[in-house]
Amino acid sequence: MSGSDLIRAARQARRRAHAPFSNFKVGAALETADGTIVTGCNIENASYGLTMCAERVAMFKALSEGHRRFRRIAVVADTQEVSTPCGACRQILWEFGGDLEVILANLRRETGRRRLSELLPLPFGARLL
Ligand code: THU
Repeated sequence: MSGSDLIRAARQARRRAHAPFSNFKVGAALETADGTIVTGCNIENASYGLTMCAERVAMFKALSEGHRRFRRIAVVADTQEVSTPCGACRQILWEFGGDLEVILANLRRETGRRRLSELLPLPFGARLL
């Protein structure tokens, strides 16, 4: 699967976002080590703080389906500027995915690629416990 296929899957997932409070819809597509694609979208809640980001939905879905090794994640939002995962998602992605490639895109084009270690330098992790 190419980066553009992964972006396409994230765009499709974004259409299922439940974002009535922010109107900021996000889609994610996580590629596992065996090439499976697991998608996610943000799901907001009236109490706001219970909102779950697209990236964590994708990761938790994948983990709950038994996947443990991951390669890349594509994240799509409708912004001109590059939109990157929030701090909480960076931490969760690091814990379960390690130094993933993070492919960022909007509705029309890819906006950037980063390693997760660039987005989350000096991470806290289980090895420190
Ligand atoms: N959000 C995501 O789903 N992923 C991101 O990378 C950034 C933020 C969601 C959370 C909330 O539903 C909305 O976007 C606005 O913050």
